Amino acid sequence: MGKVHVLDHPLIQHKLTFIRDVSTGTKEFRELVDEVATLMAFEITRHLQLQEVTVETPVGPAKSHTLAGKKLGIVPILRAGLGMSDGILKLIPAAKVGHVGLYRDPETLKPVEYYVKLPSDVAEREFIVVDPMLATGGSAVEAITSLKKRGATNIKLMCLIAAPEGVEIVQEAHPDIDIYLASLDEKLNEKGYIVPGLGDAGDRLFGTK
Ligand code: URA
Repeated sequence: MGKVHVLDHPLIQHKLTFIRDVSTGTKEFRELVDEVATLMAFEITRHLQLQEVTVETPVGPAKSHTLAGKKLGIVPILRAGLGMSDGILKLIPAAKVGHVGLYRDPETLKPVEYYVKLPSDVAEREFIVVDPMLATGGSAVEAITSLKKRGATNIKLMCLIAAPEGVEIVQEAHPDIDIYLASLDEKLNEKGYIVPGLGDAGDRLFGTK
């Protein structure tokens, strides 16, 4: 079973408080989500492999390290996931960005894929799927399924806030996936919002309602 990692770094937790705050406006909300995505990416990439290289310093040769192994791919789930991808790219500018767009079928209430664009070398990349809110889990399950169908074998899911219901659905559907969160909240309410959550992440990021 994939693990759930709640990233309890003090800076992540501090910034998350202001992200949650209903009085935080769009500009500040977007900046904070971006910053937290950077901090979370720092934690998530601890396992990346290194290779030894020699670099010439002004004083002489130094044995040092650069990243080796699998290249990274970031896959924001449209639209709210877009708010987190630039924050990750600040740390990993060489990562490729794929996109998955899903809408909810009004009759079945199930997510339906309407757009997928991924890097061509899917099988060689390690992917981080990003969406600020892991609520019912439907979109995350569908996005991960979509990546796997196209050959991805190494996927992580990164969200700001999750409901236990959503975590369970992802774990059932994709037991190989580790989930990284800034907070595991209490529950979903009858409208599908995470409680206490932060409201509608897409609306707060883009100033829509
Ligand atoms: N999506 C959101 O943006 N917020 C929630 O609380 C649940 C789903």
